[in-house]
Amino acid sequence: MNANVSLVRTNYFPTMVFQHDIGNHGDLNNSLLTSIYNERERDRSGVNKSNTPQLGSWHSHTGLHKSPAYAELLTHVNSVTSLMSRELGYANDYTLKVTTMWSIINPPGNGNRAHIHPGCIWSGVYYVQAPEGAGEIEFVDPRTALLMNQPKYIAKKKRPRDCWTKVNYKPMAGRMLIFPSWLYHGVDPNMAKESGQKADRVIMSFNISQVKRAEA
Ligand SMILES: [Fe+2]
Repeated sequence: MNANVSLVRTNYFPTMVFQHDIGNHGDLNNSLLTSIYNERERDRSGVNKSNTPQLGSWHSHTGLHKSPAYAELLTHVNSVTSLMSRELGYANDYTLKVTTMWSIINPPGNGNRAHIHPGCIWSGVYYVQAPEGAGEIEFVDPRTALLMNQPKYIAKKKRPRDCWTKVNYKPMAGRMLIFPSWLYHGVDPNMAKESGQKADRVIMSFNISQVKRAEA
């Protein structure tokens, strides 16, 4: 190695994943759980998206943000997205707005197929219940040209983070992740060992668009 060689590395085009943890989320999550299971009772078939209904994974309709039962969560999301707008230099006369919101209940054995969320800018997930063993969410580098011919890395050593081609997040109750809607993601099968509904992996998810403030 030549100690005299200097090298400047600059990262461009990063893939941004924002994380926000809601403190004291106990009451919020209990109230969400009640609303979500009630909604499943009301609409057992739900909709078929990335979930696996044939195995028991339930996906609600996508208009939950219109119900008062989810208003408190919406307030948290709006706080996060207004901070994102400021940090990213978005125009002041525009605002980030939740345009769709839904819930997914994954009982043990269920995951979600890899997918993206067309028609919006940002998408998010909020973990309402995440027992030990609940499936992790995996984000995959969408630059397939890069994946075609990968360099060899040192065996059994973790690559530098800037060289990762996928990343997993362990779900944690009270945690919110917001990611680009174009970023492919899927969810591993729920392997929780608890009994009954305590074993369910329960999330709220939402899509975010940028709209003129007057329309917000
Ligand atoms: Fe998704």
